[in-house]
Amino acid sequence: MAKAKTTAFFCKECGYESAKWMGQCPACRQWNTMVEEPVAPKKESAARSAPAFSVRTPPMKLSEVSLAEQDRMSTGYGELDRVLGSGIVGGSMILVGGDPGIGKSTLLLQVCRNLAAAGKRVLYISGEESLKQIRLRAERIGDMNGELYFLCETALGRIEEEIKKLKPDVAVIDSIQTMFCDSAAAAPGSVSQVRESTSLLMQIAKGLGVAMFIVGHVTKEGVVAGPRLLEHMVDTVLYFEGERNAAYRVVRGVKNRFGSTNEIGVFEMTEAGLMEVPNPSEYMLNGRPEGASGAVVACSMEGTRPILIEVQALVTRTNFGMPRRTAAGVDYNRVNLLTAVLEKRCRYDLSQMDAYVNIAGGMKMNEPALDLAIAMAIISSYKDVPVDEKTIIFGEVGLSGEVRAVSMAEQRVNEAVKLGFEACILPKICLEKMKKNDKIKLYGVSSLREAIALL
Ligand code: TYD
Ligand code: MG
Repeated sequence: MAKAKTTAFFCKECGYESAKWMGQCPACRQWNTMVEEPVAPKKESAARSAPAFSVRTPPMKLSEVSLAEQDRMSTGYGELDRVLGSGIVGGSMILVGGDPGIGKSTLLLQVCRNLAAAGKRVLYISGEESLKQIRLRAERIGDMNGELYFLCETALGRIEEEIKKLKPDVAVIDSIQTMFCDSAAAAPGSVSQVRESTSLLMQIAKGLGVAMFIVGHVTKEGVVAGPRLLEHMVDTVLYFEGERNAAYRVVRGVKNRFGSTNEIGVFEMTEAGLMEVPNPSEYMLNGRPEGASGAVVACSMEGTRPILIEVQALVTRTNFGMPRRTAAGVDYNRVNLLTAVLEKRCRYDLSQMDAYVNIAGGMKMNEPALDLAIAMAIISSYKDVPVDEKTIIFGEVGLSGEVRAVSMAEQRVNEAVKLGFEACILPKICLEKMKKNDKIKLYGVSSLREAIALL
């Protein structure tokens, strides 16, 4: 008798399964991503193929579908609700990804606390920390009242049982990499285990109408399966990011079946947990130097929301034959491109100059609307002429030195007015389309040269 196969190869990126090893995954075309993992003999496959949520209903018209249970629950944080598309949808699966130690557990614990305070029944399942550790963290955050239950467990069979018994409105799984279900033989955190566990959790979520938050660690290049492969399965994907040594954290929506993506929510890590930052522009512009050359305030759109940030540049004579360019918070290639445009189209000799470009506060932005501000910051530093500190600048710069239109100019200008800016340099085409605004002086420019002449 032939020996039953006990291992298979899985792609770490997309979860593709194959009987033999391959250098390149045929599904996602990534190299060196196949890993060998044990597989369990398929015995209960028939039972598992019927998903738990296939309640037998006849085909029906959309107008007959009741929307009552689709009511959204508020997380208690306006910043997070906006990213989710005005709250949590019942029975949906939300993946929260992020580097270890960034504050995922803290955020979800606070969300659980708010939900419980609003009269919801919440179950927080931790596979990483003991109840004692959770209690210690909770003490920094504040009182936990209402129907908020905690469970330390990694076996999904038991978790399923408890969820069925407790029937919570919201459950948190912290984290998917520690969960273990019997139908996959591989160790927790491996590709097949993560995939099986997620699909089991999905059946629980959809079958019982429990909204579920799932935490997933993102590792740079590790054995642990990244949430990449989970992204297809869940309804919503949020990334929690930030510099470890800066206090603010950003929740970014990457995928959302119930709302728009590209939205961000800003939080600040404090002694007593995460606090909302309802006005990030003010926060980002805090402690701005006065009258310094090379500093320009720009406006970037994050989803539907404008954020003002300070772009800084430092241009100095180079000590080596080859000038250095560095970029922090903006795209490095974009900075190279803009310096080339400045050389060729505006005749500035930057070939003997080092240029360092930075976004103050450590935010990462890559919107083309920042181009004009980056170019102006470089020139301001090169000439050592400060840009008026009550002016904001935005616009995309093309390769021939023209300033091109950007989207949502009106919102950007309004944000500048709100924060007390008095002038704005923007693309001429945007200015022509805009309503008159007497609270702020608007300068429309059509080329980089015109903008520099305004300095
Ligand atoms: P944590 O939520 O455990 O991160 P993750 O679950 O993403 O791995 O966050 C841990 C970090 O947050 C840790 O470095 C300490 C910090 N922290 C605070 O600064 N203030 C607080 O009130 C709490 C609870 C954590
Ligand atoms: Mg954690």
